[in-house]
Amino acid sequence: MQVRRCAVLYMEPREEVSFDLAVLLAGGDGLRRERRWLALAPHVGDEVEVDEVEREFLGALSPSQWVEAATLTGHPAQTIDRLLKEGLLIADGKRHSAMRARDEALRGTYWHPLAATLHAFTRWSEVDAVQNMKDSGTETAAQMREVLGPPPVEAAACSEGAGHLPLPRIAPNDFDHLLARRVTCRNFDASRKLPLELFAQLLQRVFAAQAEVRVSDDTVFLKKNVPSGGGLHPMECYLIVQHVEGVAPGLYHYQAQQHALEPLALPDKPLREFMMDMVAQQHWFADAHVMVLLSPRFDRTFWKYRHHAKGYRVVALEAGHLSQTLYLAATEAGLGAFITGAINEVELERAFGLDHVHQGALAICGFGWRGEVMETAELDPAGVVWAPG
Ligand SMILES: Cc1cc2nc3c(=O)[nH]c(=O)nc-3n(C[C@H](O)[C@H](O)[C@H](O)COP(=O)(O)O)c2cc1C
Repeated sequence: MQVRRCAVLYMEPREEVSFDLAVLLAGGDGLRRERRWLALAPHVGDEVEVDEVEREFLGALSPSQWVEAATLTGHPAQTIDRLLKEGLLIADGKRHSAMRARDEALRGTYWHPLAATLHAFTRWSEVDAVQNMKDSGTETAAQMREVLGPPPVEAAACSEGAGHLPLPRIAPNDFDHLLARRVTCRNFDASRKLPLELFAQLLQRVFAAQAEVRVSDDTVFLKKNVPSGGGLHPMECYLIVQHVEGVAPGLYHYQAQQHALEPLALPDKPLREFMMDMVAQQHWFADAHVMVLLSPRFDRTFWKYRHHAKGYRVVALEAGHLSQTLYLAATEAGLGAFITGAINEVELERAFGLDHVHQGALAICGFGWRGEVMETAELDPAGVVWAPG
């Protein structure tokens, strides 16, 4: 059997601090501090605790050169077996093909190693963001100030004012009025169906291919209404449709060239419950008529930006462009829109059949009719959307 180390592996010396009465009674500060080594390998996706022997062994192995396992004398067979099982060590042969395939997929996607690690280990599973805010006492702005202290100043200044160049204030036009009406919507009216034409118009404006450049049969670049790093448009759009006329509630993939919906398998629970889980229990988004998972195909962007230090950032920035375009298109149509980064990626990947090595879940946007009553707070200090009081 030949072995090599997996392609990307970071070791974290993690310290966990917990209260311990025994430490307090012994005259200490009451805190027990425990350190352990965690192996972070993005193709695995879960942290693996390792001991010193395993850590040193992995550090001594090449990720690019295969060696005969039999020549690794001085290393107990159980160390090799365990690291193979965890996927930190890769071997040839059928028995180890699953982890080898994952490692090869990561190599073949041309991730920057730090970006791959950031992406893999910042995914949430079964997180309840609302409960977390309750537990930390940071549900309202006033509570945040109380618990966290004052934030950094709201707008930075480099000097005291002397020498400033005041700029003219330009009279607002229709575009300014549209921008002013863009307010993150946290109150949807589930009782009112969204007409198919509005739904289709928004998807067409925000996510559809508007034209294409065909370099050869296998190399095509799309033109869309948003900018994209390298013009590669890696972002796929997966939909959770709840209340749209003529569209059965369920999961869909939006095909950007055909401007068509591809129906996907239904989740294994009621749709609203599924939506709640996906947005980490943020109930104020759960009645949205449509949710849009922004899901980049990393391999498309990293095809050009191989192991590139900015590749992941470029992809993440694109989510913002799509989101703002969706906000404005929705606002223009008289609808409300939102974006949330508080999502349970692991469950989203499972539901939509995605693998975080090739394709991620970056954010969820949504849109639909606003409700009549503001039950959850929205930021509308000028009273542009909601009448003051
Ligand atoms: C990347 C990103 C993530 C966000 N995530 C959340 C979220 O998890 N929950 C939420 O209620 N709002 C979320 N928002 C909306 C912001 O809270 C909102 O934009 C901000 O309060 C300003 O309000 P406005 O959009 O109405 O101007 C997010 C906004 C951005 C840009």
